Amino acid sequence: MSTARILLFDSGMGGLTVARAVRHELPFVHLVYAADNAAFPYGAWAETALVRRILGVMAELIARVDPDIVVIACNTASTIALAQLRDTFGVPFVGTVPAIKPAAAQTKSGIIGVLATPGTVRREYTQTLIHDFAAHCRVELHGAPRLAEMAERKLKGVAVDLAALKDEISPVFVEAGGRRTDVVVLGCTHYPLLTDELAKVEPWVVRYIDPAPAIARRVADVLGSVVTRPPGREVPPHNSVLLTSRRPEAEDALPAYAKMGFHLPEFLGMAV
Ligand code: DGL
Repeated sequence: MSTARILLFDSGMGGLTVARAVRHELPFVHLVYAADNAAFPYGAWAETALVRRILGVMAELIARVDPDIVVIACNTASTIALAQLRDTFGVPFVGTVPAIKPAAAQTKSGIIGVLATPGTVRREYTQTLIHDFAAHCRVELHGAPRLAEMAERKLKGVAVDLAALKDEISPVFVEAGGRRTDVVVLGCTHYPLLTDELAKVEPWVVRYIDPAPAIARRVADVLGSVVTRPPGREVPPHNSVLLTSRRPEAEDALPAYAKMGFHLPEFLGMAV
């Protein structure tokens, strides 16, 4: 058996919140992070084009990294493409979908908020989660147009505009019949990067659900049944970050990736 190679994938820097939890759960694995920064943000893409893009990028990444397991650390990608990724590639995938089931189990008021990208809130997958696990709750689902980009700017060192943040989150805070939202699902992996600022602008205190620790446990479980093997060729070293484009913003992002432990950049030249 060799060290397990894990490919963590997101449209941008949000998957770093999942990477952090995976490092904590599995400190001795070989981690490679990949971001489709050429296509960021995924939240604004139409479904058919996005599925095609994700399948194309994943083919390149799997060829380059030869992973034992792939973590789709992105709700917007998982809710649209997970089934097709599993059908297309012979590698185990762990996805990230909005944590509606635990939220429905934890709410006392019966009102839960779901913050996600505009793409994720439109997905049938998300509606099915609500139908299957939260039918007894009032679910305030909000597609936040700018939150993911605000989180990326924060990681690059730009101060968060708190008034704009408050506008982005306020639709999930509702009061009705003497009850109010008490649990909010962070349904985009970028949002836990804004936890400190969320606490400053929330209209009242709620519990936020960051799915990253549960995803990391799931990765450990799946790895337990995977026979790891040495790569068939030279692959990016542990702590590499693969970006699909060298657009100017990419250079600004490198210090942030390095701060989160991914300090070996590689560019793939997969412009949109
Ligand atoms: N981090 C991604 C997610 O979990 C989406 C951000 C985006 O590209 O819009 O949904």
